Amino acid sequence: MNPTESDGDRLQKVLSRVGFGSRRVCDDLVAEGRVRVNGEVAVPGRRVDVTRDVVEVDGRVVGVLPGLVYYLLNKPVGVVTTANDPDGRPTIVGLVPSEPRVFAVGRLDIATEGLIVLTNDGQLAQLLSHPSHGVEKEYLAEVEGDPGPGALRALREGVEIEPGVVTAPAKVSRRGPGLVRIVVHEGRYRQVRRMCAAVGHPVRRLVRTRIGPVTDVRLGPGAWRALELDEVRALTQAARASETPAPDAR
Ligand code: URA
Repeated sequence: MNPTESDGDRLQKVLSRVGFGSRRVCDDLVAEGRVRVNGEVAVPGRRVDVTRDVVEVDGRVVGVLPGLVYYLLNKPVGVVTTANDPDGRPTIVGLVPSEPRVFAVGRLDIATEGLIVLTNDGQLAQLLSHPSHGVEKEYLAEVEGDPGPGALRALREGVEIEPGVVTAPAKVSRRGPGLVRIVVHEGRYRQVRRMCAAVGHPVRRLVRTRIGPVTDVRLGPGAWRALELDEVRALTQAARASETPAPDAR
C-alpha cells in the first residue's frame, strides 16, 4: 500500500504533538527530508501508525506513542526492582505513579541505591536492555580498605567474577580513601559488587550516579521526576551509538 494513502496519523501532526513545533514547522521538517519512517525518508503527506512505525528526526528516534511516560527514580536501599515481590518488600513501581503501568529498565540489587529509569515504552526498554547496547552506567562505590594502583588497574582491565567470566574493560578512578568511581558498559548480575570483591575490596555502599547521558544530583532517595524529551532522545541515541556489530556484520 502506498504509505501516503495508508491509515494512521499524519506525520506532521504526530511530530507536532510530541513537541517539534507547529504543524507548519513540522511540515517543513518533512519537506526538508529530515524525517525518516522505518529508515526511509518520509514524503509530505506520509501517515504513520504510532504503535508500529519507527520515526526519526535528524537521525534520532522520536517517541511518538501518546501516553508514553519516562521516569527517573533515585532508588533507595531496601527497595526491590521487580514489579511484585513474593516476600512483600517495597518495590520501585510503588514509588512512581501507578497509572500508566511502567516497568524498570534494567535492575539495581536491593542494597544498591541510585538512578533507574521506569517507562511504558517497550521499544526504548528493549533497546537499552539488549546486551549489544552497552550504555555506560556509572557507580560510586564505598569499599572496604583503600584500593591501590594494582587493584584499580585490575578493575580497569577486567577481573574474573566467576569461573571463566572476566569483565570488560571499565573506567575506574579513586575519588578518595575507599571511594571508587566505576563506569561499566555491561550489566551482569551484581557486577560492581563482584568486581570489587574480586580485587579484595568488598562494597559497603553502592550508588548508581549516571545512566548514559542521564544524571541528576538533586534527586533525593525515593524521589522521581519525568525525563525530559531531550533526555529520552539522548538515551536512545546513546543506546544506538554503543551498539556493537552482530558477528555476521563484521
Ligand atoms: N552492580 C551491582 O553490584 N549491583 C547493582 O545493582 C548494579 C551493578
